Order: sequence, then C-alpha cells, then structure tokens
Amino acid sequence: MSVESEPGVVEGLDHWRTLPAVQQPAWSDRAALAAVSDELAIQPPLVFAGEADVLRGRLAAAGRGEAFVLQGGDCAETFADATANQIRNKIKTVLQMAVVLTYGASLPVVKLGRMAGQYAKPRSTDDETRDGVTLPAYRGDIINGHEFTLEARTPDPHRLLKAYHTSASTLNLIRAFTTGGFADLRLVHEWNRGFLANPAYSRYETMAGEIDRAIRFMGAAGGDFDSLRTVEFFSSHEALLLDYERPLTRIDSRTGLPYDCSAHFVWIGERTRQLDGAHVDFLSRVQNPIGIKLGPAATADETLALMERLNPTGIEGRLTLITRMGAGTVRDALPALVQEVVAEGGPVTWVCDPMHGNTFSSPSGYKTRRFDDVLDEVRGFFEVHRDLGTHPGGIHIELTGDDVTEVMGGSEEIDDAGLARRYETRVDPRLNHQQSLELAFQVAEMLKRS
Ligand code: PEP
Ligand code: CO
Repeated sequence: MSVESEPGVVEGLDHWRTLPAVQQPAWSDRAALAAVSDELAIQPPLVFAGEADVLRGRLAAAGRGEAFVLQGGDCAETFADATANQIRNKIKTVLQMAVVLTYGASLPVVKLGRMAGQYAKPRSTDDETRDGVTLPAYRGDIINGHEFTLEARTPDPHRLLKAYHTSASTLNLIRAFTTGGFADLRLVHEWNRGFLANPAYSRYETMAGEIDRAIRFMGAAGGDFDSLRTVEFFSSHEALLLDYERPLTRIDSRTGLPYDCSAHFVWIGERTRQLDGAHVDFLSRVQNPIGIKLGPAATADETLALMERLNPTGIEGRLTLITRMGAGTVRDALPALVQEVVAEGGPVTWVCDPMHGNTFSSPSGYKTRRFDDVLDEVRGFFEVHRDLGTHPGGIHIELTGDDVTEVMGGSEEIDDAGLARRYETRVDPRLNHQQSLELAFQVAEMLKRS
C-alpha cells in the first residue's frame, strides 16, 4: 500500500521556482523544456530511496570516525566519455584507491562516485569570447555542447533526457562491475601490484606488501571472501540544474517523503549555496544525504544557518560539509569553522575537497593543479581535525581512470610542457590513474600515523 505524502510536501517541491536560482541556463525554448520535464517525470528513478537511506547511515558512521569516505570522479562527465572502457577505468581507480585507504585507515571506506549524473557545471561568466566572437559559456553536457559554435552553445533542453539515459547506462555498468565479481578484493589488490611494477612508485612497495600479507592472513584465518566479492558503490553529483533534479524527485512509497532519485547523494556547490536561494530551498525538501561545498570565505555563522535550514532536526549523516580551502589557507581558515560548527551545530561529516582551492593557470595557459598542493591540503585537513579532536571523514577528488596529463607533479613529474600531451578535461584538471593511486598511498600513510 502506498503512503500518502503530507499535505503541502509536493507543492513545496516547487517553491524554489519563486526564488533566485543562480547558475541556470537561459533556455530559449520554454515549451521544449516543459515537454522534456514531463517526460523525465515519468521515467523510472535512477536510484531507490532505500539506497539513499543506507548511504546516510554510512556517512553518519564517517562523521563519528567509524568509516572514511572516498568520493571521486570527473569534474564534468561528458556523453562521449560514457564508454564501457572509461567507466570501467574510473571504477577500477576508485576501488584500487579504496583498498589502500581501507588499509591505511583500518576503517570501512564508503565509495561514492562523482559519476552517473555529473553533467552540469557552474561557470564564472555567462559568456565566452574568442577572436571577437561571444557565445554562451559551456555549462556541461546536460545543457549545451563544448564546441565553440552558436548551435552547440545554445542551451538545448533535450540534453536533459540524454543525461538521464546516459546516467542510467552508466549506473547499470557500475552495478554490474561492483556486484558481478569484478570488484573482488583479491583482484583489486592484483591491479595495485601492476601499478607498483613501475619503478616510479617503488616507494609504496612496503605498504603494498603489508596489504598483501593482510589479505593472505584473512584467507588463512578463514576470512569470508565471498562477502568481499561485491562492493557498495554510490552515485553523486552537484545538484545544480534544478530543471533536471525536480522531475527526478519522487515521493517514496514507504514514507511519503520526497527523494531526489537522480543520485544517492547530491551536493550544493560553493556558488549556489545562498541561504535564500533556490538550491538550498529545493534540497531542504528532499531526504537524500546532501553535501555543501565550503570555500575559504565561508563563515561559521552562514554554515550554521545552512545547517539549520538543511538539517533542522539534526539527522546524523544527512549533511556532509565538503571544505575546499586551498593548501595555503586550510590551516588558518578551517579550525575556527570546525570549532564553532561542532560547538553550536548538529552532527556533520567533514570531507576534504583538496582540488577546488588549488586551481591556477600554468604559464602555457592550462588550468591546472599541483599534486603536492592537493596532498598538502589533505595533510592540513587531517592536522586541523586531529588538533581539535574532530573526525576527518573523507576526501573528495577529481580523477579519471585514464592516462591524462592535467595535474602537474606526482612521481612521474608532469610539468607545464607535459600538460599539452593529453589534456582532455572539459572543465577542471583531474588526477590521472597513477596520480590517483599515488594520492591514495600517501593519504593512507597519513591515516596510519593519525
Ligand atoms: C566542482 O566540484 O566541480 C565545483 C564546481 O566545486 P565548487 O562548488 O567547490 O567550486
Ligand atoms: Co571541478
């Protein structure tokens, strides 16, 4: 029997339409948007409410220091890259990192892809000018095309349907990979041995040897490997494009409450977290676990106000605060924020995004980051939480499973000239497969010491 929702719950889901919504495209064809919205509203949900509830429980554990979150994937997924190989490489990378982090933290790792829906991007300007020609900025494949032509750059509502179907096929493959035996712990560990065969990474052999012995010990002690043949893997993206999130929001038949069924976890970006804005209002009404990005200028007062709006009853695991301060700022800006939030607010899970506070343009003109800055922000995040006695709950990483050259540094020492070799991202620079694994080994060392 289906449960009726409370009066006003469904109406409330559209209240955001009366509020300022920043970073939305200027749709020219409103009739087409309405038709697409109706069609999306009758598509099956991409995830189930019950799965989002499970994730909320896992995030609550991370908030208490009983689990560690690894959230990773592209800055901007593209339709063209939703191929079997690229999806598999990304999942492999996240699983390989997770094994290393599980060992380092001696805790379960909550695996959360920035995948199967990460298609909408906030931009610093509405337009882009090249050689005297001005066109709308690229806002992600769910809105317009990257090619610099008027046709490609004009927002096209039909892209919302393509995003839905591409997310569905991505999720299908994720579910197959993570439950079909592909993710077996012993196999993932074998892949890590392949990575270490490269002499550039020989410094991580000691830890890999320790993991190897731990796995063999489990086998000898009669450990239940059957339960390690499958892994839990959740999906997430920035809930930026409200014309997509709203029609995918459904009333859960068990509880009568709304869930945004486009992903298990959705977050509000640094640029769209206005207290009286559309994004905060909309997400305050869905039950999913949600994230808020907090940059170096975020104050404790505004964070507490956001927590009050988004989690007034203090549900554990509901809110993850994803801090992205920059390596040079984290040690100064984070302590006061954490202290006041913990003293005055309800429960939260703290996650470090060491990517978005560390972006700059290289001399040759590529938007890049330094591997060492990324590591240093994670280190600062751990130091701050250790000093305050709070829990560093996880990391949020922009990565790909491929061999791109977008972030400078790492043991293979990609330099400015090297960026040109294989720079493919549509928006922000991602760690490549090797850099991601190297980061995992380094963070595991930090976790072992803390
Ligand atoms: C992102 O995660 O790609 C992003 C735009 O981050 P932020 O909102 O933290 O700037
Ligand atoms: Co990004």
